[in-house]
Amino acid sequence: MKTEKSQVALSKLIFTMNWEDPLSDIKTLNIKKGDVLMTISSGGCNTLEFLLHDPGKIYAVDINQAQNHLLNLKKVAIKHLNHDEFIQLMGIIAGNNNLDLYDRIIPYLDEACVDFWNTKKDLIKKGILMGGRYERFVLLAKKVIGFLQGKGRVRRLFEPKDLESQKEFFDSTFNTWRFRKMFDLLFNKRRLAKRGLSADYFHFDDGSKSFAESFYSRARKAMRDIPIVGNYFLHLYLRGAYRDLDEVPNYLKEENFETLKERVDRIECVTMDAKEWMISMPDNSLDGLSLSNICELKSEEDSNELFDQVLRISKNNGRCCFRNLMIPREVPEYLEDSIIKDEELSAQLIAEDRSFVYSKVAAYEIAK
Ligand SMILES: C[S@@+](CC[C@H](N)C(=O)[O-])C[C@H]1O[C@@H](n2cnc3c(N)ncnc32)[C@H](O)[C@@H]1O
Repeated sequence: MKTEKSQVALSKLIFTMNWEDPLSDIKTLNIKKGDVLMTISSGGCNTLEFLLHDPGKIYAVDINQAQNHLLNLKKVAIKHLNHDEFIQLMGIIAGNNNLDLYDRIIPYLDEACVDFWNTKKDLIKKGILMGGRYERFVLLAKKVIGFLQGKGRVRRLFEPKDLESQKEFFDSTFNTWRFRKMFDLLFNKRRLAKRGLSADYFHFDDGSKSFAESFYSRARKAMRDIPIVGNYFLHLYLRGAYRDLDEVPNYLKEENFETLKERVDRIECVTMDAKEWMISMPDNSLDGLSLSNICELKSEEDSNELFDQVLRISKNNGRCCFRNLMIPREVPEYLEDSIIKDEELSAQLIAEDRSFVYSKVAAYEIAK
């Protein structure tokens, strides 16, 4: 199935994990026991992470059915496997019986989900988490960076050090001309312009004048100014796997597994455009919305209509978090007094964002 224009076919698994820092959404949403939340399913990690904060219900909405097949598989695996088996199926620890684990959970999956995963047995065998299109791109980027920088230099970047030594190492050793040149190659102006992305039309929040400059400064921040220890995103981008079983999202940690088991049924996966789903919801029914960066995949008009719905379905004092990767979407001016940006928190979120590729991560409170 194809959507409008250049959107990717909606049956393909694009993400097998989330590449957004869940701490940003957790700080924004300030989740309280019993809250009703809406998330974008994507790789499912952040939705599972939010469960640890005890919401009553999470609607995980995604326009791509494949992403919900993924989240459903994760839910069922959490419910019916033990922790070691679950992280083995995810590909975090090695094992040679992933297909047996899959066979054990098949009875709990719906038919469409089984049909989908039956075509992905090679991925199941390998372990799932680095198997979406985006993750395969990340593995390629890792190879390129390893080639340009040398594996030794990448390894030394991750050796534990305090923030001052991390800055010193980046400035003196990692920040080579080859490293900087890589961004010019990756974000080649002509190639981007062909895809309709001309930097002339953009206002970069960091003051950059081109995509290459902006992405270079995002990477520089992650490698230089944000502690590398604890940044599992950077480790995934540069080394293709989690560092160890401690430096993983909380939903993968053994100590949280029983809590997740008890709560996974609170997630309801919905395959639909987010705005259309919102239209189907009653007024004042949501405590928090985590919108990923879907606004920039919509036209400005459609994005504005989505925020009309955010306001309608949110409770007074409800919270909302969203990001931009490239296209500068914002709450429309006519809603600024009702969907109010928390400037201080938003500045903190972007400064501390471990997932670092976003130009904007912003927090809003609803006032009715
Ligand atoms: C916007 S993408 C970005 C991925 C994200 N940065 C992450 O780390 O997970 C996340 C998900 O949004 C979904 N999506 C895009 N537009 C949507 C829409 N209008 N309604 C619902 N889901 C949408 C995609 O199918 C994808 O799974």
